[in-house]
Amino acid sequence: MSQFNLQHVVESQQFDRNLLEQVFNATDMMKADLHGEKKLAKFLDGKIMASLFYEPSTRTRFSFESAMRRLGGDVITTENAREFSSASKGESLADSTRIINGYADVIVMRHNEAGSAVRAAEISRIPIINAGDGAGQHPTQALLDVYTIADSFPGMNGLKIALVGDLRYGRTVRSLSYLLTKYDDMELIFVAPQVCKMEQDIKKYLDKYQVPWYEVEDLAAVVSEVDCIYMTRVQKERFHSAEDYQTAASRYILTPELVGQMKPDSIIMHPLPRVDEIPPEVDSAPQARYFEQAQNGLYIRMALLYLLLQDN
Ligand code: CP
Repeated sequence: MSQFNLQHVVESQQFDRNLLEQVFNATDMMKADLHGEKKLAKFLDGKIMASLFYEPSTRTRFSFESAMRRLGGDVITTENAREFSSASKGESLADSTRIINGYADVIVMRHNEAGSAVRAAEISRIPIINAGDGAGQHPTQALLDVYTIADSFPGMNGLKIALVGDLRYGRTVRSLSYLLTKYDDMELIFVAPQVCKMEQDIKKYLDKYQVPWYEVEDLAAVVSEVDCIYMTRVQKERFHSAEDYQTAASRYILTPELVGQMKPDSIIMHPLPRVDEIPPEVDSAPQARYFEQAQNGLYIRMALLYLLLQDN
């Protein structure tokens, strides 16, 4: 495997097609190894991953911790760093980062402020992996999202993808939009109410890379024409106004009737957790991919730890 040319994973824009291919090749290798000979089970023996989570998580934290252990490494963790780390005594993120540099070989960090992972990376000697920074980015989610889409659409060419729900505060859709610019003939449809439309920075980035996009408020109007519907939860915790939240909550529900209008070879994705935007009856639809998507998170995160720590 050739040298991985990234020190930190903090933003989706860091990835070009070569890096994506490297990550996805390593991901295929991890998946095969995990279900086969387990030759890599001691690869990270002696390495320590610090998982530093200032916000709640099920998938990202558990899959990273599982990934590290499945590669033979060890984990030190705080699942509620705001309460149980020295952040509660006023310690800055910079100081916490400096200190953990002396205890671990990689830091996986979820923080409530956009830009926090970039700031930590500026002062960290060991790799920082952004596991979600406020309404900023979630690049490892975007990697597993693209890996999942490519499983159904090898080559990732000429796809029409609808991103639905909380696009303003949704870091997963922001990171995914950045990554989709790396592929040819993509078209994005933003389906959101006025109060949580996609932000201008993403639209400008898409324009710069000549990726066509348009906005609608009616999900039913686009379900039959897209290759992928990417649903998201409306994140109550990020809204500043209860009234705005009420406007957006339960606005988009992908009912079995709507799924029945989708193309047979199209797919449904969701970063999870979900609230009511995908009813459980849809889980058995042939288009549903969201549990497989979450499972791919383990393989992607094994690949990232492998690539970031292989020469250290
Ligand atoms: N998709 C995702 O980030 O899930 P968690 O919040 O459970 O980590």
